[in-house]
Amino acid sequence: MEAIELLRTRRSVIARNLSNPGPSEEELAAIIESGIRTPDHGKIGPWRVQIITNEGQNALGDVFAEVFEKEHGGRATDAMIDFEKQRPKRAPVLLIVTSNILVPHKIPEMEQRLSGGAFCMNILNAAHALGYSAQWLTEWVAYNSEIKIALGHDPSVDIIGMIYIGTATEEPKQRERPHFETIVSEWSGC
Ligand SMILES: Cc1cc2nc3c(=O)[nH]c(=O)nc-3n(C[C@H](O)[C@H](O)[C@H](O)COP(=O)(O)O)c2cc1C
Repeated sequence: MEAIELLRTRRSVIARNLSNPGPSEEELAAIIESGIRTPDHGKIGPWRVQIITNEGQNALGDVFAEVFEKEHGGRATDAMIDFEKQRPKRAPVLLIVTSNILVPHKIPEMEQRLSGGAFCMNILNAAHALGYSAQWLTEWVAYNSEIKIALGHDPSVDIIGMIYIGTATEEPKQRERPHFETIVSEWSGC
């Protein structure tokens, strides 16, 4: 596919519809290198990415379930707890992206955060370019301090993406997009 067509037509595929095969080790390295190519004012590199191995996906499922059960007490049913256990295993590959910004710093915080968003977006596009599908999620698990600590992060660090990558088991339906005319305007001076 032409690069421009790929960018104009990319769609997320929901994580539960992402199956094997996932990207190989080399393909995953290429996907992450595409993330590292993201614009980064001041060469800070304000992002980190964790490759959650298969073993890691299992262990993370246990953490999600444990935290969920603790937070919901007796209201958590077995089915709900099992759902949390399965959450990180929905796709063959799971990447966790954090925004590791430097504050105070001469590069505004906003610019460092935006670079993290661009990092995630490049990962989605690179996965798509290699013929895979992906979904960029956060869900409740990205905002939970215990989960951040279990993953080795300080609670002040933002998890900005849990990116699931795999092969689509079904074509996603098209999603309505904002109209070009609604978001684009021209300005030619005062
Ligand atoms: C930072 C960020 C976090 C997101 N988190 C969620 C989420 O937790 N749950 C969800 O259903 N979609 C989430 N989304 C939306 C999906 O990634 C995706 O944009 C949506 O399914 C539409 O797909 P599209 O990429 O084809 O537009 C998030 C998007 C972004 C940018």
